[in-house]
Amino acid sequence: MKILVTGGAGYIGSHTARALRAKGHEPVIFDNLSRGHREAALGEALVEGDLLSVEDISRALAVHRVEGVIHFAALTYVGESVAHPDAYYRANVTGTLNLLDAMRRHGVSKIIFSSSAATYGEPDRVPIGEDHPQRPVNPYGRTKLIGEWMLQDHDQAFGFRHVALRYFNAAGCSEDGKIGEDHDPETHLIPRVLLAITGEIPAVTILGTDWNTPDGTCIRDYIHVEDLADAHVLAIEHLAGGGGSAAWNLGTGSGHSVREVLAAAEKVTGKKVPAVEGPRRPGDPSVLVAASDKVKRELGWKPQRSGLEDIVSSAWRWVRAGGRYARRT
Ligand code: UFG
Repeated sequence: MKILVTGGAGYIGSHTARALRAKGHEPVIFDNLSRGHREAALGEALVEGDLLSVEDISRALAVHRVEGVIHFAALTYVGESVAHPDAYYRANVTGTLNLLDAMRRHGVSKIIFSSSAATYGEPDRVPIGEDHPQRPVNPYGRTKLIGEWMLQDHDQAFGFRHVALRYFNAAGCSEDGKIGEDHDPETHLIPRVLLAITGEIPAVTILGTDWNTPDGTCIRDYIHVEDLADAHVLAIEHLAGGGGSAAWNLGTGSGHSVREVLAAAEKVTGKKVPAVEGPRRPGDPSVLVAASDKVKRELGWKPQRSGLEDIVSSAWRWVRAGGRYARRT
């Protein structure tokens, strides 16, 4: 299948484009390269365009007759979304609406959507099942929830078939180290821990040690980016095979505290992590762990490489090899 991958030069998008190719599909990447990296496209067709331009996305769909779309292109930082909600609603809500309009115009009606655990907000119970109430606590999470609603309404009115994949904490890099995580600034825990080890940042700050958890630090469900990528390929194959619309969590069902992540990094690297304790980060829920049985049952997806040490090892290989793509000037 020929599949349009919006945001395909970004972190999860690039790993998914590669997984599509490995399964014999043909990815066409659509990316404005504002946060993505040309090198991450690995020579696949790359349309430089912006979802805020209806012409850009319409042209891409006119030139490339695709069977479906996997939609990653979005702004994705919780903290930034609190400071700049306008940018988040524009990129994530208007951008998605433009994409859906263009898809209708070109007769494309299958879409996989990057949703997020952030749509749940502070959970009433963990593990979090897909039927848990969605009450996001920040603009980022709200834009992703609106995206899910837009898909449901387009399904109802226009017969769009869609899968919303709610990611927990994506981490790690490709096994062969060809593509990886390169955010600027980097705010995520695992890369920051490794950058502290290499000395690129002086220390990682543990954001809160007084949470209501066994060791006082936040608990998250870390999932290897290549496992996430595989789920997207299965999801688009599910729709192409006539499967119905769905929303699935992508997590492992196991949570790890910040201190456990530091311990895993010390074990994998054999080095001490320079760390300091700091206050809580506003907007952080204490515990986010997925109930992951629904996607296993309905899609047949199971994480293969998401043990915490596997994740940290793959991220370490990438960081040791330089940890970034060429910088734009
Ligand atoms: N943390 C630290 N120190 C750091 C960075 C993070 O202690 O320097 C902690 C955070 O407080 C959190 C955990 O490590 O408890 C993981 O933080 P990340 O920033 O790596 O990831 P988040 O859980 O904040 O965010 C991820 C995705 C978001 C998504 C969110 C869902 O990156 O896109 O999960 O809640 F919205």
